[in-house]
Amino acid sequence: MCGIVGYIGNDNSIPILLEGLKRLEYRGYDSAGISYIKDGIGEVIKRQGKVSALTEAVERENISAPIGIGHTRWATHGVPNEINAHPHYNREKSLFLIHNGIIENYLSIKAGLVKEGYEFFTDTDTEVLVNLIDRYIKKKNLSLFQAVRYALNEVEGTYGIAVLSIAEPDKIVVAKNGSPLVIGIGDQENFIASDVNALVSHTKQVVYLEDNEMAVIYKDRFVAKTISDERIEKEIHEITVDADEITKGGFPHFMLKEIMEQPESVRNSMRGRLILDEGLIKLGGLLGYEQRIANSNRIIISACGTSWHAALVAEYMIEEFCGIPVEVEYASEFRYRHPVIRKDDTIIFISQSGETLDTLAALKEAKRRGALVMGVCNVVGSSIARASETGVYIHAGPEIGVASTKAFTSQLIVMALITVLIARNRQMSQIEGVELTKAISELPEKIQEILELNDQIEKIAEVYKNASNFLYLGRGYNFPVALEGALKLKEISYIHAEGYPAAEMKHGPIALIDDNMPAVFVAPNDPTYEKIISNIMEVKARNGKVIAIACNGDSKIDDMVDHVIKIPTTHRMLTPILTVIPLQLLAYHIAVKKGLNVDQPRNLAKSVTVE
Ligand code: AGP
Ligand code: GLU
Repeated sequence: MCGIVGYIGNDNSIPILLEGLKRLEYRGYDSAGISYIKDGIGEVIKRQGKVSALTEAVERENISAPIGIGHTRWATHGVPNEINAHPHYNREKSLFLIHNGIIENYLSIKAGLVKEGYEFFTDTDTEVLVNLIDRYIKKKNLSLFQAVRYALNEVEGTYGIAVLSIAEPDKIVVAKNGSPLVIGIGDQENFIASDVNALVSHTKQVVYLEDNEMAVIYKDRFVAKTISDERIEKEIHEITVDADEITKGGFPHFMLKEIMEQPESVRNSMRGRLILDEGLIKLGGLLGYEQRIANSNRIIISACGTSWHAALVAEYMIEEFCGIPVEVEYASEFRYRHPVIRKDDTIIFISQSGETLDTLAALKEAKRRGALVMGVCNVVGSSIARASETGVYIHAGPEIGVASTKAFTSQLIVMALITVLIARNRQMSQIEGVELTKAISELPEKIQEILELNDQIEKIAEVYKNASNFLYLGRGYNFPVALEGALKLKEISYIHAEGYPAAEMKHGPIALIDDNMPAVFVAPNDPTYEKIISNIMEVKARNGKVIAIACNGDSKIDDMVDHVIKIPTTHRMLTPILTVIPLQLLAYHIAVKKGLNVDQPRNLAKSVTVE
């Protein structure tokens, strides 16, 4: 996601654009830029890095222009640098475009435009769109609005866009599908932005565009149409929330916002990557490496913290469905012991930030030893991504809360995609592939169902907020979820919590059980269910309090435990993506009830770039 802003009116657009970008920086901040039209000439100023770098460059020029657009980028295609920053423009610098979203079919559109003589100077998907619009203006002699409309009818993917043309300097053309876009209504001036946070200081009157809607914004009016060219009337709303609330999407904390975003972030992680009718996976970042990875003698997965838990889940996935031995390594240990690394190893490094020093150092060591190195990162162009020979971005969007939530579920989605991709290059049948890809595609709706249990989970948090210790227990695919649930609780509520394989209880931890030690069992309806029920009975027999995560339709567990949170069923390999959600919410609510700083817990940093 990213931030887009625009202005047209009697005032100077430049300070308004810069202030708007500053307010939207939380949406993505790897590079930024503006373009404006003055006396019939269009200009662009872009900088890598934060909005402040752009502001410094712009303010040196002392510009005044009545119309302009601006963008703060969260890269998805093309590393974060100045040339890939938005706005993008056509060769004549007569058209300028900013874009929030992903154009899935940009490569095929780009190939067609190259055949017609178009040149491209960036690695982004967005640059394709501005040239496609240019093509429609030139080839079909269309107005800016119609050219944008025709171009978008060719596009697959998501967008919130704003377009300027020096041939039509009295308007901004905007369009929305999958990414937010709001119009701010002023007096002889109008605004556009990704969210109202960039508008609240100028106007409280806003119009929300819906998917497949467009608008032409003049300084004294706007005309809204569908992408099929039908005129629509749009209601003007009054903004009531304050700016700070909007930055967090109306949520009290980034962590809750990011937990609640998971249906969308998980959808973005799989967007354009599932070929459902054939049960196949398409991962552009692994193009040309599929066979080599599928022929690996061994796969090592190295990471830290929550990403290490994702690696553990991936171990179960890959070994069961690909038949390749997997070893999971803490990056900090991997880099300091004398690991045996062979050239036919594939080593996967998972990192949300892509900057964790231990993980980066382990990657460099693995690369030096000649193994194939793959990065699974969230931040495009991050150090680990750039140091990897091949890799996959998880497209979870910016994760601001220090406690990782949506990145974890997106990491699991990508590892599931990689598992199916490898397996379908080995023994997995089309039928199995179709079953798995369909199950993956159904996850966003199932996550949404779980999020609707938020109130029930908050009530459970109220009961246990003063506990001093917690045990988290799971088996098989959900043993790593037990570890992740324990980490979530301890890192934001400062309550000591340990995760264990449930069967390990009898080898020591059960000595801890009494009525002050709540035990959280992750007990979905999978092959280990009956065994975990026995473990629950062992705890109950010693007066332990039990909170269980179980599946809809499981009536057996209700009378055995003190609290049960019921979630939808899914393929056993995918259960961690669902079972972790209640544990994220449990940790969040306990921490909030303890009055702690949920987004920035003591002693922690979002990206650990020290040893
Ligand atoms: C998870 O909630 C923590 N913030 C931490 O364990 C984190 O997962 C770890 O530092 C690894 O970070 P990375 O994924 O950015 O490499
Ligand atoms: N896909 C576009 C890019 O990578 C837009 C990303 C964004 O939403 O910031 O530049």
